[in-house]
Amino acid sequence: MTTQNPLQNLTFEPMHLDDLQQVLDIENQCFENPWSNTYFTISLKRPRSYERFYVARRENTVVGYIVFNILHGEAHILNIAVPPAFQRQGIGKYLLTSALEMIQVDNGREVLLEVAVSNLPAQYLYRQFGFRICGIRKNYYGRYKDAYVFRKGAKDDAI
Ligand SMILES: CC(C)(COP(=O)(O)OP(=O)(O)OC[C@H]1O[C@@H](n2cnc3c(N)ncnc32)[C@H](O)[C@@H]1OP(=O)(O)O)[C@@H](O)C(=O)NCCC(=O)NCCS
Repeated sequence: MTTQNPLQNLTFEPMHLDDLQQVLDIENQCFENPWSNTYFTISLKRPRSYERFYVARRENTVVGYIVFNILHGEAHILNIAVPPAFQRQGIGKYLLTSALEMIQVDNGREVLLEVAVSNLPAQYLYRQFGFRICGIRKNYYGRYKDAYVFRKGAKDDAI
């Protein structure tokens, strides 16, 4: 599935192996503990039916991506990133809106994600979409790096 946002000249499309170098560059810019080349490569070469890897593309440039899965009506957002040079332009909102639309089409009843307690920009983004804290995972991102679990039900706002 490919969707377009003509206002920003953005498309939302499945991630391909050809995108990997750009994705890894973004991953390294955005995260202290980036996902590995091996993980992305294996996932893209042998896609599992419940996993979704999508990029936001402007012309030939990957300007963000989102990874989520949906299993038995429960969706989990595993990764979302926009490179610093493209942040605060609405691309994060575009990625999340597009993913939530797909989850709704796939009959997702609820959506869960983890976010570092210290990551306020991402938390503001999720709150805008109706996500709320439903738990905490101690040391999830390493020693003393706790994560909030955010949840949103299918009947909540915006999905
Ligand atoms: C979180 C992230 C994906 C947001 O992407 P983005 O394209 O910059 O987000 P948008 O421009 O669509 O902004 C959406 C909302 O997010 C919030 N937000 C994003 N960046 C923010 C910042 N630096 N400070 C405060 N709020 C911020 C705001 O609520 C914003 O809405 P507003 O513009 O109406 O105020 C991006 O900052 C990123 O990739 N961060 C590094 C990776 C990461 O932390 N991923 C999340 C892991 S859980």
